[in-house]
Amino acid sequence: MSEIREFLPDDLFAGKTVLVTGGGSGINLGVAKSFAAVGAGVAICGRTAERLESARVELEGLGARVSTAVADVREYDALAAAFDKCRDELGPIHTLVCGAAGNFLAPAEKLSANGFKTVVDIDLNGSFNAARAAFEQLRETRGNLIFISAGQAFVPHFAQAHCGAAKAGIDNLMQNLALEWGRFGIRSNSIAPGPIEGTEGMKRLGPRDGGAHAALKQAIPLGRYGTVAEIGQTAVFLASPLAAYVTGTRVVVDGGMSLPGSGVFTQLVMSAMAADSPGHP
Ligand code: COA
Ligand code: NAP
Repeated sequence: MSEIREFLPDDLFAGKTVLVTGGGSGINLGVAKSFAAVGAGVAICGRTAERLESARVELEGLGARVSTAVADVREYDALAAAFDKCRDELGPIHTLVCGAAGNFLAPAEKLSANGFKTVVDIDLNGSFNAARAAFEQLRETRGNLIFISAGQAFVPHFAQAHCGAAKAGIDNLMQNLALEWGRFGIRSNSIAPGPIEGTEGMKRLGPRDGGAHAALKQAIPLGRYGTVAEIGQTAVFLASPLAAYVTGTRVVVDGGMSLPGSGVFTQLVMSAMAADSPGHP
């Protein structure tokens, strides 16, 4: 995690508390580590105690004070208790990152009602629960909210009706809270990561073999997958004074993957150009 310290002072968030739901693994842990690297006290919650304890070791290794709590974001009282514990151990929350989510590939005609509901409950209702439970602490710190969205929120993806509905809801909630809570000095933004290497999400949704990985990377203008550190750096920027006038915004961090005209169309045009002018990239 040395990258962020090359650009920002390691005490940028000294004295500030950042709470990340679903912070025990993957992108959310990467976000927690970025905040730890710039001096924040970091609280993480999730459903699995062992996962949280192993994440604690990583975060403490970066010098952070850490608070963990087992809590399912679908259970408001459990979240509220986790946020009270965080306050007691680290001080009031300055930045809340709503990252807890569940996903799987399922064509809509095969998805059960409970499968759809489960993802909406975790992603969307869980995000509202967290934001609502953190409100008094955020009001006190004049802090900010960061929601982890996804490209499915604004580009329909096959077998992703549940995720798309949930993440689109999250982005709408993000904007409503920016509108309503600006008067308390609270900012609200979301990050929509593209494919991030080495994550559970990519394991579940990503290509199965090397050839398919190569084809997907070719459809991304920057030609590669993103890293958890790159999502963490974006979160630190959004939560920092550098973004003091930024609210109600979705920041897409996807190497350009969702740009109109990319993907198959770009590949077809490039193939046609290569056929016309062999040897030109
Ligand atoms: N395809 C279709 N339906 C699925 C499914 C799949 N791969 N996995 C679960 N479901 C359905 C179940 O069948 C069930 O519906 P039913 O009662 O009609 O049978 C419903 O979803 C709930 O499943 P359950 O296992 O009880 O949910 P859970 O609350 O224990 O777990 C999940 C939530 C399903 C999202 C689970 O995959 C999870 O915990 N994911 C967290 C990690 C993750 O997804 N990371 C990637 C983030 S991008
Ligand atoms: P991940 O490691 O599985 O992260 C999800 C985390 O949420 C886990 O730590 C999980 O821990 C926790 N969680 C799940 N259900 C929960 C619940 N009900 N209550 C509390 N915590 C819960 O997957 P990831 O791929 O890094 O994804 C992280 C975030 O990035 C998600 O919001 C995802 O939608 C988003 N995203 C990912 C990608 C990608 O390329 N991976 C792309 C776009 C967006 P427990 O199971 O222990 O609770």
